[in-house]
Amino acid sequence: MADKTFNDNFLRACRQESVDHTPVWYMRQAGRYQPEYRKIREKYTFFEMNEIPEVCAEVTRLPVEQLGVDTAILFADIMTPLKPIGVEVDIKSGVGPVIANPIRHVDDVTKLRDLEPENDVPYILESVKMLNEQLSVPLIGFSGAPFTLASYMIEGGPSKNYHLTKAFMYSQPEAWSVLMEKLASLTVTYLKAQITAGAKAVQVFDSWVGALNQPDYRHYVAPIMHRIFGELKEASDVPTIYFGVGAGHLLPEWNCLQADVLGLDWRTTIDTAREELGIRKSLQGNLDPSLLLGPWEMIEAQAREIIDQGVKEPGHIFNLGHGTYPEIKVETLQRLTAFIHEYSQQN
Ligand code: CP3
Repeated sequence: MADKTFNDNFLRACRQESVDHTPVWYMRQAGRYQPEYRKIREKYTFFEMNEIPEVCAEVTRLPVEQLGVDTAILFADIMTPLKPIGVEVDIKSGVGPVIANPIRHVDDVTKLRDLEPENDVPYILESVKMLNEQLSVPLIGFSGAPFTLASYMIEGGPSKNYHLTKAFMYSQPEAWSVLMEKLASLTVTYLKAQITAGAKAVQVFDSWVGALNQPDYRHYVAPIMHRIFGELKEASDVPTIYFGVGAGHLLPEWNCLQADVLGLDWRTTIDTAREELGIRKSLQGNLDPSLLLGPWEMIEAQAREIIDQGVKEPGHIFNLGHGTYPEIKVETLQRLTAFIHEYSQQN
């Protein structure tokens, strides 16, 4: 571990314990808004950056050193573990993941291999170990969730309405179930390997699951999310986080899962989650990242509001409601981090 004292505010907030200040980190805190990231990215493809542990560790550390955030998140993508199991995926700058062999039939599902982290993604485990030696904040490991991974695998790339995914789910329910179970196994195996390598918390990104209504979520997705968080809880006491965009209507379902922390986007306030929906878990979020392109006074007022709500009960981690954008200025995130630390100490 690095010389500096270890900052465990984030882990304490995950466990709803008292903190010195509200911990803060930003989804996609490593990314194209950073000139240093863009410079490294010029030399490598996304997956090369991911696969060279020294580069992966450097990019992971960048926002910790530059912004003063309370956690690091491993630099990888939700697509990283899909490549070795037979998904032909490329990450196109400004577009996202693009898949050359989208899933159409049950055969496309059954021919996917099982993930063996030590053989298939040794560089991820190496990066986690390296970062554990270097960081004085906790490292978050992560995985995509089955619905969100499946949406890319079926659509072949980013989508606005997920109609191919839903059509597959409705018309081939048995194949859907095989796919969900396969991806649940991958998620659990991948996260357990990251935890064994030293990840101090894990986040499951279900970014696009908010496209489903509550009954469909309950029928087609909730059972495998119960399986994932149940198996993770059985294996270790490392905190788990579940996040999705536009998924406020699913929070009552999420509240029944064995996840420790729920991520909110900007559409659901912390007060609403706690007081109206009765969520008693830790909450993470939820400044609208678009606001970071607006005037500082508005950013500060909104951040103040989020902290005021967050500190009413133990267990709040400040974050954005979704990832950073390339247009955001590094200085804005530096100023916001300092503001959150200072303001939350006064409360
Ligand atoms: O700093 C971090 O947050 C860690 C790294 C991280 C990336 N992707 C790096 C990345 C994490 C946690 C992710 C997760 C991810 N990837 C999600 C879930 C979170 C979310 O934002 O909803 C999703 C849906 C993806 C799929 C994906 N990969 C998208 C939508 C994009 C962005 C397209 C773009 O270029 O704007 C990617 C590519 C990607 N993943 C980049 C980064 C830094 C940009 C790659 C580049 O340099 O071109």
